[in-house]
Amino acid sequence: MSKARHAAPPGVAASETLDPHDWNDIRAQGHRMLDDMIDYIATIRERPVWQPIPDAVRAEFREKLPRAPSDLADVYRDFTDFVVPYTTGNVHPGFMGWVHGGGSPVGMLAEMLAAGLNANLGGRDHMPIEVERQIVEWTREMFGFPSGASGIFVTGTSMANLMAVLVARTSALGKPSRRQGIGERGALLTAYTSKAAHGCITRAMDIAGLGSDALRSIAVDEFHRIDVAALRAQIACDRAAGLMPFLVVASAGTVDIGAIDDIRAIARLCREEDLWFHVDGAFGALAILSPALAPRLAGIEAADSIALDFHKWGQVPYDAGFLLVRDGEKHRDAFASPAAYLRREARGLAAGSLWPCDLGPDLSRGFRALKTWFTLKTYGADRLGAVIARCCTLARYLEARILAEPRLELLAPVDLNIVCFRYCADDADRINGEIVVNLQESGMAAPSTTVLDGRLAIRAAIVNHRTDVVDIERLVSAVLEFGARRSSSAPGQVGIAEEAIAG
Ligand SMILES: Cc1ncc(COP(=O)(O)O)c(C=O)c1O
Repeated sequence: MSKARHAAPPGVAASETLDPHDWNDIRAQGHRMLDDMIDYIATIRERPVWQPIPDAVRAEFREKLPRAPSDLADVYRDFTDFVVPYTTGNVHPGFMGWVHGGGSPVGMLAEMLAAGLNANLGGRDHMPIEVERQIVEWTREMFGFPSGASGIFVTGTSMANLMAVLVARTSALGKPSRRQGIGERGALLTAYTSKAAHGCITRAMDIAGLGSDALRSIAVDEFHRIDVAALRAQIACDRAAGLMPFLVVASAGTVDIGAIDDIRAIARLCREEDLWFHVDGAFGALAILSPALAPRLAGIEAADSIALDFHKWGQVPYDAGFLLVRDGEKHRDAFASPAAYLRREARGLAAGSLWPCDLGPDLSRGFRALKTWFTLKTYGADRLGAVIARCCTLARYLEARILAEPRLELLAPVDLNIVCFRYCADDADRINGEIVVNLQESGMAAPSTTVLDGRLAIRAAIVNHRTDVVDIERLVSAVLEFGARRSSSAPGQVGIAEEAIAG
């Protein structure tokens, strides 16, 4: 073929691509960014866990829509000056708030590779989809699901739980309900979870059009596990009232204290009652990778669906939520919608149906699977399981330190990796709230709070593979120090800016 050069038509400048004129410039800049981020992770202990964003920084960062180009090096300088010092801090081993994974250098590199490929995993026939299918297979294997199971990456467990409610709803009402709406029968549907379940289950019922009132919050026992007898009684009561129980959501790791429901008993009950059995395993489900912890999840293999986050205990960088569904056909029934522009073929790029867009609400989807694939392959599932078990050992260590310290009080049993405690004081709710804020602002440690039986607790969730004994010790001594100062001063008297320490 001759290489004819075509003149650009009028109005189309030859150089309008966004690619650089000189690839060596961007290569050098890219190498610097990569080195900087590797250094950032390698030296994370030298920085505060978190620090407040000064008003001046917020103000300086704000600007009008940039119409004109800027030099990449200048934009990168803004990133290093304004963004890097003021992140959440969950890469740091002293971060113990909420439930945040620490990420890993391998995941970071994989994310860069994924961005380079810029793959859209909504569908079509390409290898990135096979990578996601590989993760589906591995996750299926982890939980002992049958070969017809399906799975899909989503943002996080909030989304995965919502999708599970939608799959269970369509399974209960039949596929025509997707056209006709939930109708009178839908108004009778009732779902069940424990009082300790994550709030996204309530939200899922609301978003699914079933109403949050249709979710029964069942009492928990002293270990924060759902009271299975009360669950059974509530289902019977609702049936007697002419309602249609359709779904039970068990927690494999409650958000407050990490309690695991009696999954096997709930699975049995769901089988007897013909109910969809979903497990919210946002962080706890991956404990299946630890031989020591896996027995605590016994019965999970009988679930109809499991929601989990690889970005929590799986240490994959955000975001990497996942939904696994036992019956792939039911999963597809809830979401697949034909469209002329999404026609499937036996050959060519439009081959390879079933596509991920048939299994969820998203059509455009990023390559979350790649960082998960790299993480699982590079570290191996056993090593990730060992990290998870170690987090639980550290939680036990913290529990022992609290029990041995008369100025501290343990507020909940330590079942997994979450420790809820507080500094003993009059006006303890106020003082412990201030201790947590002071700790966060000091940069020494970043736990969060929760309220248990009306009492404010300092909550340390050990999720990060970098967290070590030294971080637990630092947390304990800082709580004692801030607690002692707070107890002997009126509110607002303790200056903490000068306390900022890192490492
Ligand atoms: C038990 C539980 N369920 C659901 C969620 C929500 O997960 P995500 O933040 O990934 O949406 C969390 C978050 O911590 C959780 O702990």
